[in-house]
Amino acid sequence: MSEASGLSPYELLGGEAVLRQLVDRFYDIMASDPRAAGIQAMHAADTTLIRQKLFEFLSGWLGGPELFIQKYGHPRLRARHLPFAIGEEERDQWLICMYQAMAEIPMEEGLRSHLEEAFFRTADFMRNQE
Ligand code: HEM
Repeated sequence: MSEASGLSPYELLGGEAVLRQLVDRFYDIMASDPRAAGIQAMHAADTTLIRQKLFEFLSGWLGGPELFIQKYGHPRLRARHLPFAIGEEERDQWLICMYQAMAEIPMEEGLRSHLEEAFFRTADFMRNQE
């Protein structure tokens, strides 16, 4: 993305305000869509902290400010997910929520498909079960 336009995906998406909206919708959808009940049950009932953490992580992941690394150091994202059993089903539940949250935000189709693929790869990398 950044090669073509000179802008990062973070900037193309709309910066901090739109990223916060994406993360908030992601957890709202996870809490309300019965298809995501499996991964919803893995999360703490109070999502205040995880909303902030996912926002901070995605900020850097999208080429914006490295907020998560500044606070917590290297993300070690796969290691942080090892306490949770994640197979294809859990990966797909996560992606249902993220793709739905993305669908509610206007963006260029090129950015949309780039982000969908990048989220798929990252979620697939989190799998730790057959
Ligand atoms: C593949 C399916 C996934 C499942 C089932 C899953 C589940 C979880 C759970 C249960 C937590 C702990 C939440 C809590 O403390 O209440 C967590 C933390 C987190 N997840 Fe995921 N996750 C998945 C994929 C992803 C992906 C793709 C990303 C990033 C693009 C991500 C980013 C994070 C971050 C940044 C944290 C906070 C880590 C920490 O500091 O503790 N997760 N995840």
